[in-house]
This record gives sequence, C-alpha cells and structure tokens, in this order.
Amino acid sequence: MKAKCLSSIVLVGALSACGGGSSSLQSLDAASPSGVVAAWGWSLPSYFALPTVPADNPMSEAKFQLGRSLFYDTRLSVNGIQSCSSCHIQAKAFTDGLPVSRGATSEFTHRNAQPLGNSAWHNSYTWGRPDVTTLETQMLIPLFAEHPVEMGLTPLNQGAMLARLQSDTKLGALFSEAFPNEGAPVTLSNVVKSIASFQRGMVTSDSRYDQSLQGKVALTASELRGKELFFGDAAKCSRCHSGFNLNAPSDDARGTSNHFQNTGLYNVDGLGGFPAPNRGVFEVTGKAEDMGKFRVASLRNVALTAPYMHDGSISTLDAVIDFYAAGGRVLTTGPHAGDGRLNPYKSALISGFSLSTQDKTDLIAFLQTFTDHAFVANARFSDPNK
Ligand code: HEC
Ligand code: HEC
Repeated sequence: MKAKCLSSIVLVGALSACGGGSSSLQSLDAASPSGVVAAWGWSLPSYFALPTVPADNPMSEAKFQLGRSLFYDTRLSVNGIQSCSSCHIQAKAFTDGLPVSRGATSEFTHRNAQPLGNSAWHNSYTWGRPDVTTLETQMLIPLFAEHPVEMGLTPLNQGAMLARLQSDTKLGALFSEAFPNEGAPVTLSNVVKSIASFQRGMVTSDSRYDQSLQGKVALTASELRGKELFFGDAAKCSRCHSGFNLNAPSDDARGTSNHFQNTGLYNVDGLGGFPAPNRGVFEVTGKAEDMGKFRVASLRNVALTAPYMHDGSISTLDAVIDFYAAGGRVLTTGPHAGDGRLNPYKSALISGFSLSTQDKTDLIAFLQTFTDHAFVANARFSDPNK
C-alpha cells in the first residue's frame, strides 16, 4: 500500500499529492523510538537525544545492511550509472565536493549535495523544504526527480529497476532477511525503508569536539579561542548553530523552532530576492518572509564538505567566515549582482563583526574539531561489495 502511495506521488510530480495531502506525509512520520531502541541499540554520547524513527520502519541490522548495499548500487538509477554514493561520498562526509551535483543524465542539480551523518536527527530534509520531514519521503526526490533528473526513475521504469534487483539472488536474500514476513519483499517501499535505515544508522559522534566534550582530549589553545569566538556574542555562530549537531536544535521533538534563516547571500533585485529556483523556503510557501531562508546547516564534518552553502557558492571555510564578518555578501558583477548585506529578509543575527587574522585561524581550527575521522573511514558505512 505504501508503494502505491509512493508512486502516486511521482505520477503527479508533487510530494503533497500522496494520499490527498500532507497528512499522509505526516503519517510516515509517526514517531515511536521506544521498542525500536532495544532492537537496534543506539550507542550515543550522553548529550545526544534519541532520534525519531517512524513506527512503520523500525531499525534493524538486516535493514541497515540491505540499505547499505542499495546505497552503493548503480542499478537503482535509470542508466545504471549512478547510485546514492555518486553524490554522497563517504570520504567527504557523504558530500560530493562539487558546487552543485550532477544527475544520471549529466544535468546539473540546483543545489549542493548535503552531508548525511546524523541525518536521523534533522527536523526536515534538504536545504529548504520544511514539508519534507522523513528520510523516506526525502528519498523520492533523488530517485524520481525530473527537473533536473537525479537517478531518473519514473513510474514506468521503476518496475524494470526492481526486476534488476530481483534477479540478483544475493541481494534477494538480503531483502528476505530484512523483511522476513513478506513473500515478495523486493518492492520500492522496502528499497526506501532500508536505505532510510542505513542513513539513520550513519551516526557521527567521535570528532575531536566530541572527545573534548567527553573529557577524552583537551583542545589546543587556538581551538579553545576559536570555541569562544563561536559561542561568543560578536560572531554569534552558536545563536544558529548549536546543540549536538551544531545546527538549529533538532532534539526538540520536531517543535516549531525557526530553523530556516536568510543569511544575506543574495539581493538580486534590491528587494531581497534570491535567484530562482534557489529562493529557499519561499519556493515552497511563496511567502515574502520566506525569501532566501535555508535550513541552518549542521557543521558536523564541515571541514570535509566544501564547497559551502545551498548552492556551493562559497568555496572555503576562510571565505565563509569573511562572509559572516561582512554581515552578508556583496556581488558586484554577474547575473546575481547585489548587496546581500542589505537584504531586508536577512536575519538580525547576521550583523557583521571584526576579527583579526589570528581570530580567523582560531575559528577555523575550532570548526575543524567537528571532523570525525573515524566516521569517514568506518567500514560499516562503506560499499559492501568492494
Ligand atoms: C545527482 C546527485 C545526487 C544523487 C544521485 C543523490 N543525491 Fe542526495 N542530495 C543531493 C543534493 C544536491 C541534495 C540537496 C537537495 C536540495 O536541497 O534540494 C541532496 C540531499 C539529500 C538528503 C538530505 C540531507 C539533509 O541534510 O537534509 C538526503 C537524506 C539524501 N540526499 C539522500 C540520498 C539518497 C538516499 C540517495 C539515493 C537514493 C541520494 N541522496 C542520491 C544530490 C544527490
Ligand atoms: C542567522 C543564523 C546563522 C548564524 C548567526 C550563523 N549561521 Fe552559518 N548557516 C546558517 C544557515 C541558514 C546556513 C545555510 C545557508 C545557505 O546555504 O544558504 C549556514 C551555513 C553555514 C556553513 C556552510 C555549511 C555547509 O555545509 O555548506 C558554515 C561553514 C557556517 N554556516 C558557519 C557559520 C559560522 C562560523 C558562523 C559564525 C561566524 C555562522 N555560521 C553563523 C545560519 C547561521
């Protein structure tokens, strides 16, 4: 039944079309971490909350392993060229190193590939979609997106994709293990559920920053100065990037926290406009106050995820800090010229500050403590067929 709901989404080309409105998106969302926890056994630092797991997709090791295999499987794409891992590369904390990603038909997407570590905790998915609230619903975007194409599935060719998977007996056995009560487990719904389980299992919690919070290491003098700047009143980084994922609080049981912000990257018309189709939450709501609002990015592993921002338009951490210190971005030439500092929808927290060369070095040193080297090298998250 779920598979039918999923494909109807695709047929009409809009997420909200599933089963007559956002209510069924929400139903995928029903949270019940208890019970699930015992079966899976999250092993988390004390300052982590338990993530929300949909009641109809509890965690299991078998699903995690099937999802892991599928995440790396190019048979999921229309032309057998792309897998999720084409754009989400483990060594880069599951980003791709490009300003914007390239899909199965070589078409560029509009946005920068996001890191996937700790995505179990996000309140919403992708850069600017408050309405995409589970990994299961998010996944339909890369699988079925048409404008631009990512993996190129359609309701017509999805059967052929499932047949490709079905014909692999080793993979078939993984499906049976992951969904033991189903006679014909190779379904789109189960592909989605298992990849989502793999992603929920991608926990990154062993950075130097974590080790310092746990008293296992002491930060250097430079890192500590950077930490003070990050949490201080001048730079105000932690006013938006806070909590254990260094994003807007995501452990608030999916409350209404204002985790989308306009940081003053653009002002193409002098009236606060961002370039389409990258206008953030505005693309979904059409409300002026949502212009240029993007999700506060998690800074976990940020040193590995360049280039930065929703459109990859800032190439280094150095330049990101200059951007914040200036209180927005001024583009003097090109199609997107404008003074982002004067964007009327910009957050009041982006007001600029001055910092010395040493301050900048320190702040970058602190941002680098968010890198979890064990996570990007962990064999559990690597391609099982290599
Ligand atoms: C063509 C490159 C490409 C492929 C292939 C791809 N992605 Fe992505 N992914 C992206 C981009 C770009 C974004 C940001 C999308 C946006 O904001 O509009 C993204 C965002 C995401 C997010 C949201 C993360 C967050 O923090 O909200 C998840 C989860 C994700 N992808 C999972 C997957 C999975 C699972 C697959 C395979 C089924 C996949 N992706 C295939 C490029 C890709
Ligand atoms: C008003 C809230 C706010 C404040 C204050 C803020 N940020 Fe951000 N940050 C955001 C948002 C929103 C994004 C995503 C913007 C986009 O992509 O358009 C972001 C993105 C980033 C990124 C890019 C992440 C990525 O994966 O591309 C970095 C790095 C960053 N911020 C660091 C900082 C630092 C360092 C400070 C302090 C100097 C800071 N931020 C202050 C809201 C904020």
